[in-house]
Amino acid sequence: MKALVVYGTRYGTAAEIAAEIARVIKEEGIETDLVDARSIKDRKVSSYDLVVVGSGIKMGKWTNKALKFLQNNKKTLATQKVALFVSCGAANEEKSRPEGQEKYLDAVAAKNLVNPPVATGLFGSVYDPEAKHGLMYKLTTSFIKKELEKQGINSSKRHDYRDWDEIRDWARGLAKGLK
Ligand SMILES: Cc1cc2nc3c(=O)[nH]c(=O)nc-3n(C[C@H](O)[C@H](O)[C@H](O)COP(=O)(O)O)c2cc1C
Repeated sequence: MKALVVYGTRYGTAAEIAAEIARVIKEEGIETDLVDARSIKDRKVSSYDLVVVGSGIKMGKWTNKALKFLQNNKKTLATQKVALFVSCGAANEEKSRPEGQEKYLDAVAAKNLVNPPVATGLFGSVYDPEAKHGLMYKLTTSFIKKELEKQGINSSKRHDYRDWDEIRDWARGLAKGLK
């Protein structure tokens, strides 16, 4: 059995999630490759039993390369187990999770996959007031900063909203599904 984990990322958050997913699947005894969607070109996708594809979300969108991977491999992926995940701000709060699930996972699956995915994972983001990722990031962070302050949360500190136990359980479930 072999698994491929492909990710699209702009600020590194989905990349770290993908790395942990790959680590856990490997730990379960399955040969696993982890690849950035930007450098996926020569991969023989058909040689994998499970393909996990994920992306960070910016302005409602997956990265172009991660989405292109789904589109370019649509026929091959129809014969494999496929799981999708995203890392997004919508996952951080209970009230925005249904919209995140629908827009960033269910709609992307319906549009780009032949068969429904075996699993979808809606994972959180990182708030980092110190990070330097350009103007758009800074603007988004200053908006979140105000929201945190309204909620009485310390906005000068980094917050990691990713639930690592949930991510590991999700990955373990995928590996178990292959056995
Ligand atoms: C400029 C910008 C736009 C974003 N747009 C969205 C969005 O439309 N929906 C959402 O849920 N999260 C949004 N986020 C939060 C990101 O999805 C989140 O930070 C994610 O972890 C980024 O993943 P990456 O680091 O792998 O690119 C945005 C973040 C930034 C900085």
